[in-house]
Amino acid sequence: MKKIIIAIDGFSSTGKSTVAKLLAKSLNYIYVDTGAMYRAVTYFALENDLIGDGFFKEEALIDRLEDISINFKFNKEAGFAEVYLNGNNIEADIRTLRVSKFVSPVATLSEVRRKLVEQQQLMGRGKGIVMDGRDIGTVVFPDAELKIFMTASAETRAKRRYKELIDRGHKLSYEDVLENVTTRDHIDSTREDSPLVKAEDAIEIDNSDLTIEAQLETIIGMAQKII
Ligand code: C5P
Repeated sequence: MKKIIIAIDGFSSTGKSTVAKLLAKSLNYIYVDTGAMYRAVTYFALENDLIGDGFFKEEALIDRLEDISINFKFNKEAGFAEVYLNGNNIEADIRTLRVSKFVSPVATLSEVRRKLVEQQQLMGRGKGIVMDGRDIGTVVFPDAELKIFMTASAETRAKRRYKELIDRGHKLSYEDVLENVTTRDHIDSTREDSPLVKAEDAIEIDNSDLTIEAQLETIIGMAQKII
């Protein structure tokens, strides 16, 4: 069977990673969450006081990029790969609203993007990979055999993210989450370098009213026609 690259792009909290993880599992493919990589750089910037409320030391972060090493290690219990920054597991640390608040400004920096895109392209060299993000079908793998563009209404997405964060024990309001989702979408879609746009050859799936199983079935059906 032929191994392919499946690129899944879309707005924040469209449930891309949930479907991508299950898809990778059922095809026996590698799954890469590129959002986690941008979050890892943001976490590094926060920990080193390079970004915070009202300030962003962009040049200083660019100078420190060589000190940032990101990798993924499979966690058998969790059933997916977790993200490590300089050898430390930061999977839980990057899923906070604080990191979500600063990640989009960090992701506008071309130097950051160049570093992460290079690593992502290396990870996909052997194909057999499902990668999700914002620029996978447009920039990272413009020749990906299957490209999906996920959408859902902002309210549906904010509700999902809110439930996810509350279930994980975070204390926050639905309004904060909705504000974060819409602000990130705006920054991600209007930035100069690699803005979030649907690739011409991507297939759009609006999953506002679709179960995870239905989405998975649809995408597996598409993949099977190719492989
Ligand atoms: O996917 P997730 O919501 O975790 O992504 C966090 C942020 O990382 C996005 O809002 C976006 O700013 C950035 N990102 C990006 N390009 C990607 C993946 C994520 O710019 N390929």
